[in-house]
Parts: sequence; C-alpha cells; structure tokens
Amino acid sequence: MSATKKLFVKTYGCQMNVYDSERMAEALGGAGYETTDRPDEADMILLNTCHIREKAAEKIYSELGRLKPFKAANPDLKIGVAGCVAQAEGEEIRRRQPLVDLVVGPQSYHRLPDMAAKLATGERVVDTEFPPEDKFDHLARRPRARRAPAAFLTVQEGCDKFCAFCVVPYTRGAEVSRSAAQVLEEARDLVDRGVREITLLGQNVNAYHGHKGGLAGLIWDLAEIDGLARIRFTTSHPNDMDDALIEAHGTCDKLMPYLHLPVQSGSDRILKAMNRKHTADGYRKLIDRIRTARPDILLSGDFIVGFPGETEADFNATLALVRDVQYGQAYSFKYSTRPGTPAAEKPQIDDDLASDRLQRLQALLSEQQRAAQDEMIGRTVSVLFEKPGRLDGQMVGKSDYLHAVHAAAPDVAIGDIRRVKIVQSASNSLKGELLQDI
Ligand code: 5AD
Ligand code: SF4
Repeated sequence: MSATKKLFVKTYGCQMNVYDSERMAEALGGAGYETTDRPDEADMILLNTCHIREKAAEKIYSELGRLKPFKAANPDLKIGVAGCVAQAEGEEIRRRQPLVDLVVGPQSYHRLPDMAAKLATGERVVDTEFPPEDKFDHLARRPRARRAPAAFLTVQEGCDKFCAFCVVPYTRGAEVSRSAAQVLEEARDLVDRGVREITLLGQNVNAYHGHKGGLAGLIWDLAEIDGLARIRFTTSHPNDMDDALIEAHGTCDKLMPYLHLPVQSGSDRILKAMNRKHTADGYRKLIDRIRTARPDILLSGDFIVGFPGETEADFNATLALVRDVQYGQAYSFKYSTRPGTPAAEKPQIDDDLASDRLQRLQALLSEQQRAAQDEMIGRTVSVLFEKPGRLDGQMVGKSDYLHAVHAAAPDVAIGDIRRVKIVQSASNSLKGELLQDI
C-alpha cells in the first residue's frame, strides 16, 4: 500500500475515546495512512463516537450528513464510524446513512489494517464483535516518535456495575483489565517518547485487577519508572475506592492530588433506583477518609438530574451533598433515556423541570469550582508545561490539581515541570509566575 493515504479522525466523548483514536491512527499508520487535520484532503474519515447520552449519539448522524460533500468531491473517500455508537447500532448506521463504508466497534479496531485492505477493494465492513482475542495483544507496538508530555493509557475496559441509566455495560461489555506487565511496558514506551504524566483510564478504573495489589499496586509500580513524574486515574466508582488506593493518595508523591469520583445523586432513594449500591452518607464518609489521607485533594464528580422518580426533596438532597463535599470540578447532566437500560422503562420526569434543576445544580457547582480556583491565588503549584500560550514567551500547562496555568516562561520547554506561584484566577484558567527554585 502506498504511504501517501491520509486519515482524518474526529473524536467525541470521553478520554478513552481519545486514547482509542490515537491507537486507531497508529494501527492505520501501519497500513500506509498518516493523519491529517483537514477532512477535505482525507482518504479516510473516522468518527470515534460516544453513545452515553441521546444527544451525543444523534450528533453523529448530523455529522455524517455534513460529510456528504467530501464524498461527492472524492468518491474514493472511505467513511468510518468507530466507538460506542458503532458498537450499539452496528448495521443500523449504514441503513440510516448509506455513505458509511466502515463500522468498527471499540473491541475490534486492531483489525483496522485488514479492514482498510477490504475497503480498498470496494467492500463495506461492519465489525462490532467482541472478538475472542485481546486487541491489545494484536496491536503493533506503539511508534517511537516523540509525543505530547501528557498521555492517556487505557488499563481497564467495560463495566460490571449496571447503573440503571448507563449504556456502558452494554456497549463496552464486561470489565476487563489489561495485565500490569503490558501496561508497564506501554508506560515505559510512552516515557521514552517524552511523556511525563500518564492518566490511567478505565470505565471503572479503580476496579482494576490486572495487578495483585489492584490499581494501587499498579500505581506504585508505575511510580518506579524514572522520568514519569505524574500519575492520575479516571473514572472511579465509590465502592471500589479501597484502603490501598486511599493510602496511595497520601503517600505516593507521583499520584496527583485530584480525584474524579462520581456520585450521581445525593438522595438515597434515587441512588437505590440507580442501582449505585452506596448511600449518600457512605459517600460522605469515603470523602472524609480520602481527605484525611490527602487534605489538599481536589475532588471532581458527575451528577445526573431528572432521573425517573426524582422529587424536589431528592434534588435538594443532591444540592446538600454538593454543599457538604465542596467540589473543585464537576460534570452534571440531565438524565437521558438510553434504550435497553432498566431506567428507560420507568416513567420519565418533565423535561422543563429537569432543565431547571440542572441549571440550579450547575450554578452551585460553578460557584464551588470558582472558589477552588480562587483559593489557589498565592499558592505555589507544580506545572507540567504542555504548549505555547497565546502571548509571546508564554506557556500553558496543568497544575497538580489539573488547573490550566498560564505563565511567562521564555526559557521553559514543553514537558518541563516547574514551580509556579499563582497570582490570578481567570474564568477557566490561572495565571502564575515561574519560581526559579526548581
Ligand atoms: N443520562 C445522563 N447522564 C448519563 N451518564 C451516564 N449515563 C447517562 C444517562 N443515561 C453520565 C454519568 C456518568 C457520566 C460519564 O455520564 O454521570 O458518570
Ligand atoms: Fe456506567 Fe459508570 Fe455505572 Fe459503570 S459505574 S454502569 S460506566 S455509570
């Protein structure tokens, strides 16, 4: 195959899709494709999709409609749908949008080079199997090229929790952990390519069981890698926050003081209906233990409002929990009915009411987010610089608490970690001054 084919990948949804897109591009790299950021010059366009809420899934069909002119201009253009919409809807995608040549699920993208060869002969391909082989055993070793200093690394996929609203156990299947040996090898390769920070990914990452010490055991092994300065993980379930992991937050210097720990609701009645298998007070106690281990940890969460049966009292219990916990970051969503999930069978609540609750919750969460940012003023943080800023000589990076930080840093290179004193808090970022004592 010639080495001149161009691949354009557009990623929707969570960080796992960002990781998958990078791996898909690498897999197709072996089949003669190089990536481009221009869809008009692409020989293949891949949409890596998200199915978590209805809006996310519908967006894909409108995006596919917008690709028509590219196909008209270049009849050889191949259009592919990957990710969770591919997994959930399979053949249906081609029925709704016949310009699609390829549908590939998240568990079979290691077969992309073969699929590309079939596409080249004019065949159409739909592969949404959960194949018996593990894709990670079949993907080629990752290329050696230097890359950005912060990387995602998927260590666990799928979910066995079956929260009543969630499609993940159906689209991504049962929980599977990669072996610690495989993860460590990939992490070392990333570090050789200039990576200083790794975020371990999994739909339910703290249930990781590819190491005898669980996720904490994996983190301690990763912390041994010279050159790797920072470790993070996302996303977690409260019931899988074990003692070792909480302790690691207090004692492992490389584990960053940030934790995304979704609770979804503050009402025990709703938590039960959601099949979350924990209570609001159980979550509060867990947060207390985590804060005892690491007092300055910045907490992040996910919330759903308007779950079937949610009353004003239930919603107020969510506001009360948010007030008690004090989040530094949060994501909140209006409940979205997902076909095939248990909650989809329940009577749905009024949409305007749900929108109103979302607005009220978001107002409180933004207030807390703002306060957590403002609290950083005057503090010294460490910043991993990732790219040049908008102003001359300025660089942008992430603090240990995951805040974006801008600083005048003319002598700083991408990938450097420096101490920075925070002097100002803007709408979505902080401004800092570089300290000379590294
Ligand atoms: N409706 C709204 N939000 C959802 N989430 C998952 N499923 C749904 C749904 N059906 C949210 C949860 C989860 C995050 C990734 O997306 O808050 O933690
Ligand atoms: Fe979905 Fe997360 Fe619940 Fe698993 S734990 S079912 S991924 S919300």
